[in-house]
Amino acid sequence: MTKLSSDSIIYISEVMMPHKANVAGNIHGGEIIKMMDSAAYASARRYARSNVVTARIDEVEFHLPIMIGDLVTCTAQVVYVGTSSMEVVVTVDVEDLEAEGKKRALSAYFTMVALDKKGKPAHIATLELKTPEEEKAFAEGQKRYEIHKQRKTR
Ligand SMILES: CC(C)(COP(=O)(O)OP(=O)(O)OC[C@H]1O[C@@H](n2cnc3c(N)ncnc32)[C@H](O)[C@@H]1OP(=O)(O)O)[C@@H](O)C(=O)NCCC(=O)NCCS
Repeated sequence: MTKLSSDSIIYISEVMMPHKANVAGNIHGGEIIKMMDSAAYASARRYARSNVVTARIDEVEFHLPIMIGDLVTCTAQVVYVGTSSMEVVVTVDVEDLEAEGKKRALSAYFTMVALDKKGKPAHIATLELKTPEEEKAFAEGQKRYEIHKQRKTR
C-alpha cells in the first residue's frame, strides 16, 4: 500500500497568550516545541492510522523571537518513511497581527514511530512521491534515517 505525502499535511494555528511567555513577552521555546510535536503527531497518526510516538527531534533552532499576540502556524508533513518510522517536517510561521506579512521562525525534523496495539513498532505504508520537491525531501530524510541507524548499531 502507498500513500501520498500531501495527504499527511496538518496545520495548527494559535494566537500566543501571556501565560506562555517570559516577563519580557517572549514565548517560551518549549511552548513552540509542544505545538510542533502536536502537529507532527497528528500528521504521522493520519499517515499511519495507528498510535505514534516521538522518537527524535532534529535541528531545532529558533531564528526569530515569538511574542505575545503573534499568530503561530505549525505545518507538518510526512516526507520520509522507513519500516515503522516516519520523518515529519514541521515548519513554524509567525505573523504579527498588527502588521502585514508572516515570517518563518523555525523548522525541525520529527521522527515518529508507529506502534501496534501491543506498543510494538508497526509496519506503515510506503510513500508515493509525486514531485521533484517530494523526491528531494525523501532523499534528505533517508540520509538522516541512515545516520541514526548507523549510530544505533555502533
Ligand atoms: C520509539 C520506540 C518505540 C522505538 O523502539 P525500539 O525498540 O528502539 O524499536 P526499533 O529499534 O525496532 O525501531 C523502530 C523504528 O524506530 C526508529 N527509531 C528508534 N529510535 C530512534 C531514534 N532515536 N531516532 C530515530 N529513529 C529511531 C528505528 O530506526 C526504526 O525505524 P524503521 O522501523 O523505520 O526502520 C521506543 O524507543 C520508545 O517507545 N521510545 C519512547 C517514545 C516516547 O514515549 N516518546 C514521547 C516522549 S515523552
